[in-house]
Amino acid sequence: MPLVSMRQLLDEAAKGGYGVGAFNVNDMEQIQAIMEAAKQTNSPVIIQASRGARAFAQDNYLYHLMLAAAELYPEIPLAMHLDHGNSFETCKSAIELGFTSVMMDGSLKADGKTPATFEENVAVTKQVVDFAHERGITVEGEIGVLGGIEDGHGAGGTGLEHVTDPDQAVEFAEKTGVDALAIAIGTSHGAYKFSKKPDGSVLKMDILIAIHKRLPKTHLVMHGSSSVPKDLQDIINQYGGKLKETWGVPVEEIQLGIRNGVRKVNVDTDNRLAITGAIRKVLWETPEKFDPRDYLKPAREAMQKVVAQRMTQFGQAGHAGDYKALSIAEIAKGYKDGSLSTKPLVADK
Ligand code: G3H
Ligand code: 13P
Ligand code: ZN
Repeated sequence: MPLVSMRQLLDEAAKGGYGVGAFNVNDMEQIQAIMEAAKQTNSPVIIQASRGARAFAQDNYLYHLMLAAAELYPEIPLAMHLDHGNSFETCKSAIELGFTSVMMDGSLKADGKTPATFEENVAVTKQVVDFAHERGITVEGEIGVLGGIEDGHGAGGTGLEHVTDPDQAVEFAEKTGVDALAIAIGTSHGAYKFSKKPDGSVLKMDILIAIHKRLPKTHLVMHGSSSVPKDLQDIINQYGGKLKETWGVPVEEIQLGIRNGVRKVNVDTDNRLAITGAIRKVLWETPEKFDPRDYLKPAREAMQKVVAQRMTQFGQAGHAGDYKALSIAEIAKGYKDGSLSTKPLVADK
């Protein structure tokens, strides 16, 4: 199956009432881990690459690895998504390369750190939507700003400084026509999200529910959604690592989000933890080993296990064969003739 539209994946997820994990990749082993997990659980899948991943792997390697994945797993609907595009140019280059979906994160200026104004965010996101939809490509926008700066994205702070305002979310969705809307509810990227198990004072599920009430048909996106499981932290620390005590987003909160319009769930850190723990274990227990396959294979297996578990928990498992993927040209036609709506349904307060 060729790479498919993320819009179609999310529309289908909405019909089925489930969420789809969007997993970050930088290399071949991570792509292999996700595809094996998708096969194991019969799941449609979103694979995403950040600007950092594009720089690390180089665009052509990444793109051809994704084509190989689509070729090797023809039964799995697979969308290739740009994570946190910082400008029109970044999104344009991803689309020209062959990504079937892009995120224009206009919540921050192009430096990826300074919060942008609402007007700036609307303008750059709309520019990307116009360019992308003409070509059948999906667009995710972001309103509100995530906390933290661990991965080079975010305005710093706890994540509570720029929580999404539901009225602004409505205005943003109406003015831009995005296919998916990322919102800020107190999460941040990386391992250090919360200093104890989060409650409603730091993880604003009430805001998410309020946004869903106003925009009942809009596909919501949760960033910073790693759960940072204690068992993965422990493996790293048991084999010489030095992670400080920390909490992520509990899976049950993500499931609450999925019951309230969340269709895309971004996970990177949990996989990083799984990979690092597995590599540390091999090198610690068998320091005489030096063939990279001796640690990359267990690392790939550890990531596959986490991804398969999330696919099951988010509900996408079992849904790979539910529908026939449309071509990107058919999707472009849908945007043009209005059969793929870009006008959000807005409910009264
Ligand atoms: O957006 C955050 C993802 O975890 C990607 O992180 O920019 O370090 O590749 P990265
Ligand atoms: P985590 O760091 O929680 O995995 O979040 C990843 C993310 O939001 C990528 O955009
Ligand atoms: Zn993110």
